[in-house]
This record gives sequence, C-alpha cells and structure tokens, in this order.
Amino acid sequence: MAPIVNELLDGIAPRGRADLVAELTQRFPTRVIAGIMGVPLDDADQFRLWSEQVSAGPLYPEAGHAASQAMRDYLHPIVEDRKQNPQDDLISDIIHAEIDGQRLDDEHIYGFLLLLMPAGAETTSRELGIALTALLTHDGWLSRLKDDWSQLDQVIEETLRWESSAPLATREATEDTEVDGCPVTAGTRLMMTMTSANRDEQAYADGHRWDPDRDQPVPHMAFGWGRHLCLGMHLARLELRVALRAIIDRLDGLRLDPDAEPPLIRGVAFRGPEELHVVWDV
Ligand code: HEM
Repeated sequence: MAPIVNELLDGIAPRGRADLVAELTQRFPTRVIAGIMGVPLDDADQFRLWSEQVSAGPLYPEAGHAASQAMRDYLHPIVEDRKQNPQDDLISDIIHAEIDGQRLDDEHIYGFLLLLMPAGAETTSRELGIALTALLTHDGWLSRLKDDWSQLDQVIEETLRWESSAPLATREATEDTEVDGCPVTAGTRLMMTMTSANRDEQAYADGHRWDPDRDQPVPHMAFGWGRHLCLGMHLARLELRVALRAIIDRLDGLRLDPDAEPPLIRGVAFRGPEELHVVWDV
C-alpha cells in the first residue's frame, strides 16, 4: 500500500495544489484491491469506472449491467489463465480454494470477483475523502497527528462513526416483529441507515459532532453487523491508516484551497466529498 500511495503523491507533491479526490482518494483503493486480486495496476482506473457504474446500477440499470458484463469479459482470460497457472493472488485463491472436496463454480467465482471490486474500491475511496474533509475542517488535528501518530486510530474510528461511506443496508423481514413501537410484517423490505445508529442520541453525546477525543473505544456500525459484517473492514482500516499518514506526512502545511468551494460530504447510498481542493507548501 505504501508504494502505491507514495507513487500517487510523487505525481502531485511538487505542484502545491490538487483535487485530492480526483488525484488520490479515488485512485488509491482501486489500485490496492487490483493488486490483491492480481489484475494489472495500470487497469485500475478502468476498474474504478466500472465499479462506479455497478454501484449506481439500482439507479441506472442498463449502464450497471453493461459495466458488470465488461468487467466479466475483462476478467475472463485472467480467470482462465489462473485455472491452469495459479499465482500468489486472490483470483487464484478463489478458483483453487476447496472445502470438503468442493470448489466454486464459474458463476460464484465471477459473482464474488464482481462484488469485491466495487465493494473494495468505492467505499474506502469515499471514507478516505471523508476523513480528510474532517481533518481539514477541524482546526489543529493535522498538527496533533503529526506530533503523535498514536491518535490516528481514534481519528479513523470517529470518522467511520460520524460518516460511513456506505450508510445503508437492505433486508427483508423473515417474521412479524416490532422495532421501537413500529410494527414490521414478514416479507417487508427494509432499508436501514447505519448512520442513524451511529449517531444515536442514547449512545453518543452530541453524535452529530466529529470528535476523536470521545471516550475510547467508540463502538459503531459503519461496517454493518451480524452475518454480513463487512468482509473488508480490516483492509479498509489499514488502507486509511497508510494513506492518511503518507498524505499528512508528505504534504506539508496541508490546508483547504481558499480559492475553491469548501468540500461537501453528500450522497445517499454512497457518501463522500465529490471534490477536495487543497494546497500545501512546496
Ligand atoms: C471504509 C470502507 C468500507 C465501508 C464503510 C464498508 C461498509 C460495509 C457495510 C456497511 C457492509 C454490510 C452491508 C449489509 O449488511 O448489507 C459491507 C459488506 C461487505 N463489504 Fe464492506 N465496507 C468497506 C470496505 C470494504 C472493502 C475494502 C472490501 C473488500 C475488499 C469490502 C467488502 C465487503 C463485502 C464482500 C461485503 C459483503 C459481506 C457479506 O454480505 O457477507 N468492504 N461493507
């Protein structure tokens, strides 16, 4: 991860200004997951575009299906190659993994790969943008971190609590029940927002405030809960740690660009800043 983020930083560091979303936060996690899966890093930007279209599938089904098919077509020769020549990558592991003599069939192999790329890319990109937005809009935190990196984990956990980049989960009720006085009948489709739980006034004092100084640890549901708990949460945390440290270390005097619009965290199914214009000392 460190070489990937440092290479991206090499490209912008001498310039003294950038939109960190376009040039860094969108590009870093896609490269990381591409590397883990075993697809060429040079194709990571193409994967990011497909991932965005797959994620927007519920709104634009035609584009979503086309992107999903394009990804599958792209992966086909790589999957076929790894069937014969396994390598030290996740695609090979998924193809050759065996439990009780059973392996995954092609439908499941592609299904899993097509889930991993958008799940691993878009969420972490956006969370990195959210963390940087929080740090740049709350005085003193960048220099506090530089003085004492041991506070980085509490910054990351508070950011996840405050604004999860993937705040919604959908479920179907399997039996009649009641939630906080509201009846829910079996078969009802539900969309729950984790951010509401993460700001529950009974659990957090002034939950709308981003405040890494809260009493630790601060439990939250940014990665979901139960049997579908995020598979990539440890990877995501590590990526946030590595990227934030490199960005803050290398871009001295990092601050919002006074000539640009301030960043805005928005979105429904996926949240994050669309742009993050910053300047630093060169
Ligand atoms: C900050 C970054 C991330 C956030 C906020 C996030 C959030 C979530 C949430 C809320 C769920 C549960 C959805 C539900 O219950 O319906 C989930 C599931 C999942 N996530 Fe993440 N995620 C992140 C990063 C990642 C990464 C890096 C990967 C993979 C490399 C990943 C892979 C998955 C997968 C495969 C599932 C489905 C698990 C299942 O259904 O059993 N996520 N994620």
